[in-house]
Amino acid sequence: MHNSFPVERLRYIFLFLAVFINPIHSSYFQVKDSSIIGKRDFDTEALIRGERLFYGLVYTDNKSINCAHCHNTRFSDTLNWNPDAIEISKKYLDKSAADLGRILLNPAGKKMTQVHKGFQLTNEEIALIKAYMDKLTVTGLKQHKPVITNLFLFIIASVLFLFSIIDLLIIKRLKKRWIHLFILTSAGIFVTYSLVIGAISIGHSPGYAPDQPVKFSHAVHAGQNGTDCLYCHSYAPYSKSAGFPAENVCMNCHLLVRNGTRSGAFEIAKVIRDFEELKPIEWIKVYNLPDHVFFSHAQHAGAGGLNCHECHGTVEKTDRIKIANELTMGWCINCHRTRNVNFRNNKFYTEYRELSEKIGKGEADSVTVEKIGGTECMKCHY
Ligand code: HEC
Ligand code: HEC
Ligand code: HEC
Ligand code: HEC
Ligand code: HEC
Ligand code: HEC
Repeated sequence: MHNSFPVERLRYIFLFLAVFINPIHSSYFQVKDSSIIGKRDFDTEALIRGERLFYGLVYTDNKSINCAHCHNTRFSDTLNWNPDAIEISKKYLDKSAADLGRILLNPAGKKMTQVHKGFQLTNEEIALIKAYMDKLTVTGLKQHKPVITNLFLFIIASVLFLFSIIDLLIIKRLKKRWIHLFILTSAGIFVTYSLVIGAISIGHSPGYAPDQPVKFSHAVHAGQNGTDCLYCHSYAPYSKSAGFPAENVCMNCHLLVRNGTRSGAFEIAKVIRDFEELKPIEWIKVYNLPDHVFFSHAQHAGAGGLNCHECHGTVEKTDRIKIANELTMGWCINCHRTRNVNFRNNKFYTEYRELSEKIGKGEADSVTVEKIGGTECMKCHY
C-alpha cells in the first residue's frame, strides 16, 4: 500500500490537457503546406513569423498590432465591418510589399487614417506579413472548430467525467480529492456546454446568417436611409421570387456614395468593381424552400397584401439577414388556418368573384386561406 499519487493517473490528465489546449494552439500556429508563394522565397518559418505578426503576437516597442482583430480570418456570426483577411490579401496578391507598406504606414482616406493609425512596422516585417497574406489567399476563411475535434473532445471529457465519478464513489483509489474536483468541473462544464450547443443546432438552421460577398446592411439601407423594400426587391408583389437587386440598382446611389461610415471605401469599392466588370454579386440565399414546395411572393406580398415583416421579421433593424421563421410546413399551414384571403383585386381567385363581392358588401363572412384549399397538399407540393 502506498499513499502517493499513482503516476499512471497523471497520463489521463496530461492527455486531457494536451487535447484541450492543442486545437486552440495549433489553429494559430499551424502552417499546413510549406509551399512558397509570392515574389520572394519564404520558408515555413518566415510564414509563421508573418502569421505571428498578423495576429499581433510580436511586440515591437511594447506595442503590437493585431491585424486579425479587425481583419477576420474566421467566419463571424455578427457583421464585422472591416474587410476580412482573405479579401485584403486577394486585393494585394498582385501588389508588392511596398504597396502594402504604403497603406499601413501612410494611410489615406477618412476611414483608413483612423484604423491604420500609428502603425510602426519595419520593411522586413511588412514583407513577412505580405508573405503570410499571400498564403492566406489559398486557404480561405476558417470555419469554427471542426465537428470531429469537438466530438473527440466530447468523448474524452465524458470518459474522464465517468472515471472520476466511479473512482470517487466506488473504487476510491485516488486520494487527492482536488483532482476529482478539477476533472469534474472542467469536464462537466465542457460536456454541458457541448450538449447545449448541440441541442440548439438540431433540426433546422435557426438563425442561419451566412457571410455575404459584400457587407450589405438592411439596418443602414432600409433602416437608417429608410429606403423602401420594393426599391430593391421590386418583383416581390408581381412574381414568384422577390429576387435580389441588380448592381445598377446599387449604382443609382453608389455612383456618388463611395464611402460608408462603418466600412470605409473597401466594401462599396467591391460593388463598383463588380458593376464595371459586369460581374453579378453572388448573394447567398438565406431563405430556402426544398424543391418540392411551391411558394409565390406575388400571392402573399401582392394579392394577399401581407407585409414582408410577417415572414421575414424586422429586417430593417439588423445588419445581417437572419432566418426569422423556419420555413416548416407547420408554419405555412398555421397561418393558412387563421388568415383571411384578401379577395379585393385578387388575380388569383377570380372564380370566387361572387363571394368576393358579397364580402365586399358585408353580406358574407371573411374566408380563411384554408377554406379555399390552402391546406391541400397539391397547392404547395408539385
Ligand atoms: C438597398 C437595397 C435593399 C433594400 C432597400 C432592401 N433590401 Fe433586402 N436585400 C438586399 C440585398 C442586396 C440582399 C442580399 C444580401 C443580404 O442577404 O443581406 C437582400 C436580402 C434580403 C432578404 C434575404 C433573402 C434571402 O433568402 O437571402 C430578405 C428577406 C430581404 N432582403 C427583405 C427585405 C425587406 C423586408 C426590406 C424592407 C424592410 C428590404 N429587404 C430592403 C437589398 C435591399
Ligand atoms: C408569406 C410569407 C412571406 C412574405 C409575406 C414575404 N416573403 Fe420573402 N420569402 C418567403 C419564403 C418562404 C422565401 C423562400 C422562397 C424559396 O426558397 O422559394 C422567401 C424569399 C425571399 C427572398 C429571397 C429571394 C427569393 O425571391 O427567393 C427575398 C429577397 C424576399 N423573400 C424578400 C421579401 C420581401 C421584400 C417581402 C415583402 C415585399 C417578402 N419577401 C414577403 C416568405 C415570404
Ligand atoms: C437609395 C440609395 C442607395 C442604394 C440603392 C444602395 N445604397 Fe448602399 N448606401 C447608401 C448610403 C447613403 C450609404 C452610406 C450610409 C452611411 O455611411 O451611413 C450606403 C452605404 C453602403 C455600404 C457601406 C455601409 C457603411 O456604413 O460602411 C455598403 C457596403 C453598401 N451601401 C452597399 C450597397 C449595395 C450592395 C447596394 C445594392 C444592393 C446598395 N448599397 C444600394 C445608399 C444606397
Ligand atoms: C482597427 C482595425 C484595423 C486594424 C488593426 C488593421 N486594419 Fe487594415 N483595414 C481596416 C479597415 C476598416 C480597412 C478598410 C478601410 C477603407 O477601405 O476605407 C482596412 C483596409 C486594409 C487593407 C486594404 C487596403 C486597400 O487598398 O483597400 C489592407 C491591405 C489592410 N487593411 C491590411 C492590414 C494589416 C496588414 C494590418 C495589421 C498590420 C491591419 N490592416 C490592421 C481596419 C484595420
Ligand atoms: C403569414 C401568413 C402566411 C404564411 C406564413 C404563409 N402563407 Fe400562404 N397564404 C397566405 C394568405 C393570406 C394566402 C391567400 C393570399 C391571397 O389573398 O391571394 C395564401 C395563399 C397561399 C397559396 C395559394 C392557396 C390557394 O388556395 O390557392 C399557396 C400555394 C401558399 N399560400 C403557399 C404557402 C407556403 C408554401 C408557405 C410556407 C412556406 C406559406 N404559404 C406561408 C398566408 C400565409
Ligand atoms: C401551405 C403549404 C403546404 C401544404 C398545404 C402542405 N405542405 Fe407539405 N410541406 C410544406 C413545406 C414548406 C415543406 C418543407 C418543410 C421543411 O423543409 O421542413 C413541406 C414538407 C413536406 C414533406 C417532407 C417532409 C419534410 O419534413 O421535409 C412531406 C412528406 C409533406 N410536406 C407532405 C404533405 C402532405 C401529405 C400534405 C397534405 C396533407 C402537405 N404536405 C401539405 C408546405 C405545405
